[in-house]
Amino acid sequence: MAWYKEWFGQEYLELYAHRDEREAERHAEFVRGVLGGEHPRAVLDLACGAGRHTEKLRGRGFRTFGVDLSVTLLVQARGLPRTAGDMCCLPFRDLTFDWVLNFFTSFGYFESERQNFRVLEEIERVLAPGGRFLIDLFNREQVVANLVTRETQERGGFRVEIERWFDEATERVNKRMRLESAAGPAAVPTAPASKATEAAPTFLESVRAYRPEEVTIGLKWAGLEVDALYGNFERESFQSDSERLILVGHKPS
Ligand SMILES: C[S@@+](CC[C@H](N)C(=O)[O-])C[C@H]1O[C@@H](n2cnc3c(N)ncnc32)[C@H](O)[C@@H]1O
Repeated sequence: MAWYKEWFGQEYLELYAHRDEREAERHAEFVRGVLGGEHPRAVLDLACGAGRHTEKLRGRGFRTFGVDLSVTLLVQARGLPRTAGDMCCLPFRDLTFDWVLNFFTSFGYFESERQNFRVLEEIERVLAPGGRFLIDLFNREQVVANLVTRETQERGGFRVEIERWFDEATERVNKRMRLESAAGPAAVPTAPASKATEAAPTFLESVRAYRPEEVTIGLKWAGLEVDALYGNFERESFQSDSERLILVGHKPS
């Protein structure tokens, strides 16, 4: 099974609990300041996960709708408008949204470059003319240069052994996580019975590490224009040592 269908479940929620509502507040403020202008009729939170951005954007009066592949994460977003769907074939009519927002490295998951770029075509398709988009990725240069190849972390009741590597052939940053509870592998509650008795559950994350110009070209092919590159949510311009690569742009009218 593809890694992204396995990983974004209960364990992800517990291990990434620090990617929280406070962070989403900052992101929503950034969106209001940077995309600003005319009030959008409808906003898509693409790969919305548990809906933290959907909620903060709706709190600011933006009619935001979430879509995500993980039903486990979607059920967390109780009371928020959202649906299950795959980002490479979005379940919406053409021209539905004025803004499409893709937060926290939720692009570059597919093995095939064609399929990743298909997501950009889908963003273009569901955006109305003049509509705006935001794609928030990690900065390849920084991540690859500072990769911690092995570490152990205690998080969310788990002891997690983490292995990271950059694969030059596929240009992907990979992360393997082996989860044990404090009481040992057999006590990890969500582990399937057969695995739990033999080994701690292991998950993989594998994301294409894009250079800014690669995403910009992909967006151009899809019919979208990049207006600005930011390096963080404090609105600083993108630099080679930035933490993030945040692409903001529009669909020509
Ligand atoms: C790193 S999480 C970010 C979630 C959310 N944007 C946030 O910041 O909390 C990536 C999200 O992408 C979703 N995802 C993975 N593959 C997907 C696909 N093919 N279509 C739609 N969503 C997908 C996952 O289920 C997960 O919720």
